This record gives sequence, C-alpha cells and structure tokens, in this order.
Amino acid sequence: MIVTTGQLFKHAYGKYAVGAYNINNAEQAMGLFKGCITSQAPFIIQISKGARKYTDKRVLEAIIRAAGEIFPDAIFAVHLDHGDEQTCYECIDSGFFSSVMIDASHESFDQNVAITKRVVDKAHAKGISVEAELGMLGGVEEDIKVDEGHAMLTNPEEAKDFVAQTGCDSLACAIGTSHGAFKFKGKQSLHFDVLQKIKALLPGFPLVMHGSSSVPQDEVARINAAGGKIAGSMGVDPNEYLPAAQLGVTKVNIDTDGRLVWTRVHREYFRDNPGDFDFRPAGKIFIEEYAKFIASRNVLLGSANQLADLRKSLGK
Ligand code: G3H
Ligand code: 13P
Ligand code: ZN
Repeated sequence: MIVTTGQLFKHAYGKYAVGAYNINNAEQAMGLFKGCITSQAPFIIQISKGARKYTDKRVLEAIIRAAGEIFPDAIFAVHLDHGDEQTCYECIDSGFFSSVMIDASHESFDQNVAITKRVVDKAHAKGISVEAELGMLGGVEEDIKVDEGHAMLTNPEEAKDFVAQTGCDSLACAIGTSHGAFKFKGKQSLHFDVLQKIKALLPGFPLVMHGSSSVPQDEVARINAAGGKIAGSMGVDPNEYLPAAQLGVTKVNIDTDGRLVWTRVHREYFRDNPGDFDFRPAGKIFIEEYAKFIASRNVLLGSANQLADLRKSLGK
C-alpha cells in the first residue's frame, strides 16, 4: 500500500525513524520489499533523478507497482530524492509519487524559500508531501559536488523560519553527515547539539537525515579482498540512528550501503566462479543479501515490527 511520508511520520515521530532506501533496478526493489516484510517495517522508496534516467523512469515505476502486488502487506511511500523544481512537478503530476524532495539548498535562503514554496503549493493541491533541505551536506548530490570545507550545518533559527515560510512537511538538516562512502576523517559523531536546538524550535516537526549509510567496514574489507580498491571509507555509527530518531529524525536516507552490498556480492561471485557469465545466480544472492541488510537496518532504526500498529492507526 502506497502512503504519504506524512502518514508514516505521524506514526514514527519521536519513537523510531523510517528507512528511506534508494533503488535503481528490480533486484534492489525485490530485496527491499523482502527485507521490509521479514522485519515487518514500513519504508520509503527513494528515486533519484539519476535512477529515473537509468533504464527509464517508467520501468522503475512498473517495478515498484509489481513489487507492491507481490508483497501486498508492504506499507511504503514513493519519494523523489533530491529533486529540482522541474522534476518535482513531473513527479507530482505523475500520479505515482506520494512525496517529493525539493533540494534548493545550494541557493540563497530567500531563493530556497521561494522555490520550495512553489513546489509545496503544487504538491499539497494533490495531497503529496514535500521534503525540503536547509544547510549543505558535504559529498556528491547528483551533479552538485560540495567539498567538506563548504558543507554547512543547518542553522536552527533559520530552520524555524524556513518551515514557517514554506509550509514544507519535513526538513533535511545538515548535522554532520555527507553522501557517499567517505563521510568522516577519523571518529566523528552526529551533531546532536544542533539537532536538539532544531527540535526545541520545531517540536513535533519531522526531520530528515541524508547521508546516513554506515559503510560497514567488514563489507568494505570483503570487497577489497575480492579485488576492490576502496580506501579510507567511513560511515555513520548506526547506533546513533535511534538517539537521532528520539530528537525528531523520522527519515534516515541510506543508499551507499546498498551499493556496497551489491559490489561485495558480485565481486565475490565472479571471483569464485570465474567461468560463469550468467548474471542471475549473483542477482539472486544479491536479493537475499540486500533483504538481510535492510532488515538489520530496520532493527537499528526502530522501524522493525511497527507494521501492524501502523496499519491499525491508518485504519486499514
Ligand atoms: O543523494 C544521492 C543518492 O545517493 C542518489 O544517488 O544520484 O547517484 O542516484 P544517485
Ligand atoms: P548515503 O550516501 O549515506 O547512503 O546517503 C544517501 C542519501 O542521502 C540519499 O538522499
Ligand atoms: Zn541525500
């Protein structure tokens, strides 16, 4: 069942965070649905602009619709990740997306407000939720690269103003994470102090944490042992997901970790089966391994075993 992120957040706020997982193909979709059903968790499927271009956006939509039929108990939102204004309008008009993210965080505050407000007006007219972003994460967001020196944590006072002026339904805040597999140099924690201040000024308002992959070091070691060369990677401590959820983070974005699972499975499979050239055996293993990974993240997010209660609260 497709619901809006707003419906998911209402149930989750302050108690747990909903995992928001990016998908690009059928194998990821099957692993994601499977992992969320075995762990009995609601979830958000995120589609980036890049994912919509890979094969074709209609293929991705058809895959998600089919997975929804194969797993009829699944409760999920379909969300545009890091949209520009035009892509938001396309997704709002598609009749398929239940929420969109307008990412104008690289613009000035006033421009960000103006663009976000236009998207909110169009989306709300169709019952679609809107995530906006304030502050800048380091790393690569689609075609925009923000180096660590230019990453800016979200200013809590500005966040309050921004939400009041735009009417957005959730806000992606920069609290020390960045996209990709190289988040920190040395040990670093989330900026819980900033989160606390935002929560105090925006009580009850759902916050979003991008760049939340944990970049498991055993996964990276297996990739490297099978021929990979990934050096200096580091992710978020996944034991910080729940404390962040208690401070209002209701959506936690995870993409990179799924790519690592894919790379590990395929590198190991073709290393161990050098004469093989059928991609399906490796694809099957990936679906199972990705499902296991998703279920493990849902436990850490606190979203595991929330499905029955959510269904009741939705009156379904
Ligand atoms: O924030 C970016 C997401 O990880 C999506 O990545 O644009 O390469 O699909 P992508
Ligand atoms: P990661 O690169 O940490 O997986 O973050 C993904 C993300 O924020 C997608 O919007
Ligand atoms: Zn992101």
